[in-house]
Amino acid sequence: MRIGIVGAGLLGTAVGLNLLRKGHSLTVYNRTRSKTAPLQKEGAKIVESPKKVSENSDIVFSIVKNADAVKKVAFGDECIACGKHDGLIVCDMSTINPISSKEIAKEFSNRGIPFLDTPVMGGPNVAITGELVMMVGGQKEIFEKCKPVFDDIANKVFHLGPNSSAHSVKIAMNLQIALLALAISEGITLARGANIDPEIFLKILNSTYFKTGMSENKAYKMLKGDYNPTFTLSNLKKDLDTINEAAKSYGLSLPMATRANQVYKDAEDKGFGELDYTAILDYLNKSSK
Ligand SMILES: NC(=O)c1ccc[n+]([C@@H]2O[C@H](COP(=O)([O-])OP(=O)(O)OC[C@H]3O[C@@H](n4cnc5c(N)ncnc54)[C@H](OP(=O)(O)O)[C@@H]3O)[C@@H](O)[C@H]2O)c1
Repeated sequence: MRIGIVGAGLLGTAVGLNLLRKGHSLTVYNRTRSKTAPLQKEGAKIVESPKKVSENSDIVFSIVKNADAVKKVAFGDECIACGKHDGLIVCDMSTINPISSKEIAKEFSNRGIPFLDTPVMGGPNVAITGELVMMVGGQKEIFEKCKPVFDDIANKVFHLGPNSSAHSVKIAMNLQIALLALAISEGITLARGANIDPEIFLKILNSTYFKTGMSENKAYKMLKGDYNPTFTLSNLKKDLDTINEAAKSYGLSLPMATRANQVYKDAEDKGFGELDYTAILDYLNKSSK
């Protein structure tokens, strides 16, 4: 299958580089063209519009910031749907509200274009080697057609049910990321407050049942103040908005998700948005004194 990507941000670039290195043909559009340079260098064809991506591809992934951006590239001027042809399949890998995802799926269906929601867990560091975890919502037979491509992107692929079901699970996943980063950051801040070396805190935490991938890996970068982004704080805040909107629409009250949203919003307002989400530690250090 000829593959297309619309959105060459941190995730889209890593997914694209992995596909190129596995021998796939790749066509790419990004609103800011300069960001496509690494993909062009490795052989991707760079085009001027999402429409040109779909015209040149059998399967197109949108990997953009939020639901508004997905709608724009999918159905706006020179859009993905505008490049419709027989055999075109569209997949959305952005993290968006399941309600918006359902609307997007319906619009693609109205236009006769098969559509899957394909959000992922894992960042650019694992996308680059095809080791993401992918959740898929949409028709099983379309999923089966795309499965060989998905297997090159992710080492675990879960078909969850109809359109938008994957996004419903994905946002519950990102709530884990938001709260885990906060729990580790507050733990480190508390240890520092007691003049305990935070490395000791991590060493003990990592000797227990409560250790996580974050406490074993990323936490050490956090201690060094390395907040070079793999997933921006601003994008995690956007997901917390989505999580809280979804909870509200289900009639649920999630106190930690609500509070986390306020904390990440304040961090974003104070200029931490373009750093890695783990810079929430630096925000706490500066705001808790
Ligand atoms: N990074 C991760 O670890 C990770 C993991 C799983 C899921 N995700 C999700 O994947 C999506 C992309 O994440 P990312 O980390 O690649 O984000 P990013 O680096 O911030 O890139 C965002 C992308 O969206 C594009 N975009 C934003 N607004 C747009 C608009 N109105 N019209 C057209 N394009 C627009 C940007 O284009 P410009 O370059 O022109 O700004 C860029 O290509 C997000 O939904 C994110 O939550 C990310």
